[in-house]
Amino acid sequence: MSQLDVKGAMSAYADGQNVMDYLRHKHGIDHNNSEIIELSYDLQAGSYAKSTELHIQERMDYAKLMSEYIRPHLNGATSLLDVGTGELSTISLLANHLDENTSVFAFDISWSRLFKGQKFWNKWNKNKTLELNLFVADMKEIPLLDNSVDVVTSNHAIEPNGECLKQILSEIFRVCSQVCVLFEPSFELNSAEGKARMAKHGYIRNLQRESEALGGTVLSIELFPLTHSKLNPTACYVIAPPKHSKMSINSRNHFSAPGTNLPLTPIDNFLYSEDMAVAFPILKNIPLLRSEKAILATALLADRDPEGVSE
Ligand SMILES: C[S@@+](CC[C@H](N)C(=O)[O-])C[C@H]1O[C@@H](n2cnc3c(N)ncnc32)[C@H](O)[C@@H]1O
Repeated sequence: MSQLDVKGAMSAYADGQNVMDYLRHKHGIDHNNSEIIELSYDLQAGSYAKSTELHIQERMDYAKLMSEYIRPHLNGATSLLDVGTGELSTISLLANHLDENTSVFAFDISWSRLFKGQKFWNKWNKNKTLELNLFVADMKEIPLLDNSVDVVTSNHAIEPNGECLKQILSEIFRVCSQVCVLFEPSFELNSAEGKARMAKHGYIRNLQRESEALGGTVLSIELFPLTHSKLNPTACYVIAPPKHSKMSINSRNHFSAPGTNLPLTPIDNFLYSEDMAVAFPILKNIPLLRSEKAILATALLADRDPEGVSE
């Protein structure tokens, strides 16, 4: 359970304050940790879908342009992962421009946002043959097997994780077999005023330098013309992950214990890791694949019982 001041965060949200700022200050934490990010976004569940519908043409244009940046890099790719998908308000509109055989993977740290987002997907994604795989996860520990998705994308999602950028990129590179096309704010291309704002909110910086330090190749960085805020300009980063042992896997089973290459298999309403002897719950068809949600269940190990798993 989060030890954060949930009630205070709710009042701060109702008063129109920045909830991440409130929580960092209240708990004396100098960066946005996963719990702060989860709570501040969970409180907003439903608001992005509403605001997207209010500005639907503008958001459709944004998503269509994103797809034009992504499509040249798809090269026969059949799977796309959206990290920090929120209420699916961007990926649902973007998916309308994808090939119909694409498998879409999308996760967020907030279960509530995904839950609300499913409705948005059903209403606005017209590409009904696309397969959607939704799950709760932390970008710092992605619960997918190595090289299990062709292309990774994001839209202002890595943004608040200023202290953990290296860890997040390293996870994205682990699961990505071809290319990452990330739409994130650029500190380096921002104005002095914008830089000060990004620093104040604990936003990422040096995405290029950190990617290269991990062995990635930055193919291009371009300011995105339809940016929402002048003080938080979106840039499109196209990055090839390090090449070592890159081979797309061709398996129906992509889920892994968070941050590992250890597969999960379904048991009842859980996903189970034989290697770690832990089970992850599934709530309303959305798997909760975060380490904190794991239930130790050694009794489910087949070799603990000569007759197999006891009922
Ligand atoms: C500004 S919203 C953008 C949502 C979505 N990409 C869109 O275009 O509407 C940022 C999202 O990233 C998610 N997020 C931020 N840090 C995360 C992390 N470490 N792991 C998983 N999700 C994260 C938040 O929960 C939030 O839903």
